[in-house]
Amino acid sequence: MKTSPPSGVERLRIEPERPGDANEISQLTTTAFAPMPFSDGDEARVIDDLRAAGALTISLVAVTAEGELVGHIAFSGVRIDGQPGDWYGLGPVSVAPPMQGQGVGSALIANGLDRLRGLDAAGCVLLGNPDYYRRFGFLSDPTLTYQGQPNRYFQQLALKGPPARGDASFHPAFDPP
Ligand SMILES: CC(C)(COP(=O)(O)OP(=O)(O)OC[C@H]1O[C@@H](n2cnc3c(N)ncnc32)[C@H](O)[C@@H]1OP(=O)(O)O)[C@@H](O)C(=O)NCCC(=O)NCCS
Repeated sequence: MKTSPPSGVERLRIEPERPGDANEISQLTTTAFAPMPFSDGDEARVIDDLRAAGALTISLVAVTAEGELVGHIAFSGVRIDGQPGDWYGLGPVSVAPPMQGQGVGSALIANGLDRLRGLDAAGCVLLGNPDYYRRFGFLSDPTLTYQGQPNRYFQQLALKGPPARGDASFHPAFDPP
């Protein structure tokens, strides 16, 4: 029986960023966010600053069988009501424009959430489009605010125990320079 060739995403490796990946991650992030109306063009700088601060808890790359880096996702610790704990923030996440819409972003997110579970994380928060992130179980909840206000784009996923309550803040690398 003839089988169809594997699709792009089946031939991808998702793995921790490797030494020497930083520049490619930066370029990929800049290219992926450039057309997004909500982008401030600062996402690559955020990743570099998280890495420099030792705050890039999880940094995964998606690499094709040919060795091309086509996706990246970052996770870093967040504070709830100013307290560090075991909640993490997802993002930035980027997929090379020609590879978008083929499941690469979903594979990066699923792999990253599995790794967070492996770290015994309480949960994950993010700022993003609910239409995309609800498929992974993320929900906006007005009892978890962002910058002091409920925000339908600010969502959380509890991985262990109850949902987070209070006001969430990302690592200072996310602050505008
Ligand atoms: C967002 C992103 C990482 C998703 O990666 P991807 O590999 O394209 O996503 P997947 O193939 O896993 O999923 C595709 C689905 O996501 C949807 N989707 C992608 N980006 C979306 C967005 N910004 N808002 C809503 N839905 C989105 C697609 O419509 C598609 O939906 P469908 O499955 O119902 O057809 C990628 O599109 C990207 O790099 N975008 C530019 C950077 C960016 O916006 N990052 C996220 C900021 S929160």
